[in-house]
Amino acid sequence: MATSNSTAIPAVPGALPGLGHVPRMLRNPLAFVTSLRDTGDLAWFRLGPQRLLAVSEPDLVHQMLVTDGRHYDQGKYFDKIRDTFGNGLPVSNGAFHTRQRRLVQPAFHRERIAEYFEVMSACAATMAGAWRPGEAVPLKEEALSLMLGMVARTLFAAEVSETVNAEVRRSWTTVVKGIAWRTMSPTPLLEKLPTPGNRRYEQATSRMRAAVTGAVLRQRATGRSDSSLLSMLLEARDAETGEAMSDEQIVAEIFLILFAGTETAAFMTVWLFHELSRRPDLATRLYDEVDSVLSGRAVTFDDLPKLTFTRRMLTECLRLRHPGWMFMRRTNAPTELGGHELPVGTETMFSIYALHRDPRSFRDPLVFDPDRWGPEGEPVPENAYIPFLAGKRQCIGDGFAWAQMVTTIATIASRWKVTPAPGTEVKELPQALMAPSEMPVFVTAR
Ligand code: HEM
Repeated sequence: MATSNSTAIPAVPGALPGLGHVPRMLRNPLAFVTSLRDTGDLAWFRLGPQRLLAVSEPDLVHQMLVTDGRHYDQGKYFDKIRDTFGNGLPVSNGAFHTRQRRLVQPAFHRERIAEYFEVMSACAATMAGAWRPGEAVPLKEEALSLMLGMVARTLFAAEVSETVNAEVRRSWTTVVKGIAWRTMSPTPLLEKLPTPGNRRYEQATSRMRAAVTGAVLRQRATGRSDSSLLSMLLEARDAETGEAMSDEQIVAEIFLILFAGTETAAFMTVWLFHELSRRPDLATRLYDEVDSVLSGRAVTFDDLPKLTFTRRMLTECLRLRHPGWMFMRRTNAPTELGGHELPVGTETMFSIYALHRDPRSFRDPLVFDPDRWGPEGEPVPENAYIPFLAGKRQCIGDGFAWAQMVTTIATIASRWKVTPAPGTEVKELPQALMAPSEMPVFVTAR
């Protein structure tokens, strides 16, 4: 029954003095976030001094993201990312976020994705074409490098993309690890110490920033308009004020597009081949579909909707292996959630990973079953499946991501049978995103 008393929200048991639930969180983060619903649809927990409200019920998450989305900003987790990369879309708030969203959105329209598609398809073909039969292929590394290449080559004109791409690749791992560590770190003091790790992180972020800034300045100086995403961002004007974005803001947007668009799609590729390796029946269906749609030729944009089983496999990977295991929001106004009054500054937390594994929403939630998305599948409760989120912060790159992922899977599957190296066990690693562990594979020609 609704109440206006926030103390009525239950507290997750097992908090230790001073530490709260940090030890449980560190021991097994994914099990911890998934267990929060056992305490209640809303439940308080503590990470050290920080009290957080876990929201574990799909309709309440919808209320927070959509119905009352204006009352929530990006939470604490995002502050560190903003410090490093600037105020790009995933971390900005309020009217500034709305304005930026209006400016950036056209670069992700369907017609634009159709234009970028040729580059995506060529990148996938180059990767799959470089593999040799019987050769061991580090699939996760290859998928990351491919997705980074697809995003970088879409962002920048061909002649700059190679230089920027090379610099981004060189610095990538150090920067991603540094960010993951910083978002989790209990005190900002640790980041300021002159340790070798901190120095490497500073150097890598400066190199990446210099490379991206250089590309923006060069493109602006040429005054040339081309089909790159950067060119669109430089030309974008606010419909109300006629204002353009500053170079600094464009650099921030580019940085975060590179981050948002690389790991997510790469991880789905790894999970999909992991599932195929365990289920030869699904592998046969996927290979049959790819053969009948493509008949040996390269993937085109018009093929994407025809690859229905491939999409269903990815839809199920996005359910069971969603990379977003922990998201945070912060109330910017007093608001009501599930009948409780939340004061300004309440930090909330939700997990797409946990929502997608909730037995109240999905039968046998831990079973990988692409047919649950087919004509025979049970209806999924509204708001229960949100791989790209919903509301004002819905992923801007969802169409781009589908194009990246479907092309990659279809291109690989049309040429190669992929078998994990003996003894490979792919584990879920709760880093900044939930990542698969390494997956070395052997490829044989089909
Ligand atoms: C399978 C792939 C992907 C998944 C599962 C995914 C998921 C998400 C989710 C859940 C959010 C919301 C984060 C939050 O507000 O806390 C988001 C935001 C965002 N994504 Fe994606 N994403 C994917 C691919 C991409 C790609 C390919 C791009 C760009 C090339 C991209 C660009 C963005 C941007 C810019 C935002 C921030 C939007 C805003 O706050 O207005 N994403 N994504």
